[in-house]
Amino acid sequence: MNQFNIKDKVIVITGGTGVLGGTVAESLAGSRAKIIILGRDQQTVENKALEITKNNGLAVGFSTNILDKKSVENVRDLILKQFGKIDVLINVAGGNMPGATIAEDQTIFDINIEDFKTVTELNLNGTVIPSIVFGEVMAKQKQGSIINYSSVAADRIITRVAGYSAAKAAMENFTKWLAVELATKFGDGIRVNAITPGFFIGNQNRSLLTNEDGTYTKRGETIINNTPMKRFGKAEELNGAVHFLCSDASKFITGAVIPVDGGFSAFSGV
Ligand SMILES: NC(=O)c1ccc[n+]([C@@H]2O[C@H](COP(=O)([O-])OP(=O)(O)OC[C@H]3O[C@@H](n4cnc5c(N)ncnc54)[C@H](O)[C@@H]3O)[C@@H](O)[C@H]2O)c1
Repeated sequence: MNQFNIKDKVIVITGGTGVLGGTVAESLAGSRAKIIILGRDQQTVENKALEITKNNGLAVGFSTNILDKKSVENVRDLILKQFGKIDVLINVAGGNMPGATIAEDQTIFDINIEDFKTVTELNLNGTVIPSIVFGEVMAKQKQGSIINYSSVAADRIITRVAGYSAAKAAMENFTKWLAVELATKFGDGIRVNAITPGFFIGNQNRSLLTNEDGTYTKRGETIINNTPMKRFGKAEELNGAVHFLCSDASKFITGAVIPVDGGFSAFSGV
């Protein structure tokens, strides 16, 4: 038996229309899993699902606001009606916003507290709410895998990035908490883990890390100097770790946080 086989697993991906979520969706569909893309805009989720289907995968898209429990419950019911089960939830949706980050000439006392709250809400409750809604299905099934997208910022202090780092740290803590809760009360078939992507150039951080001519900014260079592999990650380099956590190959792994970061979190900088 191939313990990495994920054929016909029903995999729900929040933020599946984004850079990292879209890349992993295509990869898992290529291994013949059934993909459900969740995003805020109906047209965007449908376009993404169509793109995957055109490449011979199976995907459908539903629009939902992951911060609204009722909206996620409605989508869960539609998924169950169509597919009859939910094997994996991947919480990719998340991100940062300028007001929750301190500009170079600012200090913590200049932070925009409303933006700090918004970022916390998205990165913490944006994982907590889908985990509860879909986790309940997994508890009834007595099987399932939840995979959360954290960040190296949760554990290592990244200067200026206050709100996002605090929220991802809380989300990692919840990952471990939920792993214990579900295994203890609903058995060894349910697993909850996180991956911590290092630095991948995406829509949210492109201008922070690269100049228009493609060279690195000062901050981009600092990151490279602290990454033993001396480069940024490529979105598809997260796919293997996620596939592993979807599959039976990771059957005895729960409450783990796996870095995919070119060695960034292992390095002291010296
Ligand atoms: N790109 C990186 O270098 C990097 C590094 C570490 C961690 N991450 C994490 O990986 C994840 C994906 O990052 P990305 O670079 O692909 O970002 P992205 O902006 O391309 O994608 C984020 C997705 O989240 C969705 N989303 C946001 N708010 C939502 C809401 N309320 N309801 C439903 N969907 C919502 C967006 O529509 C989008 O599809 C995020 O959690 C991010 O924090 C990214």
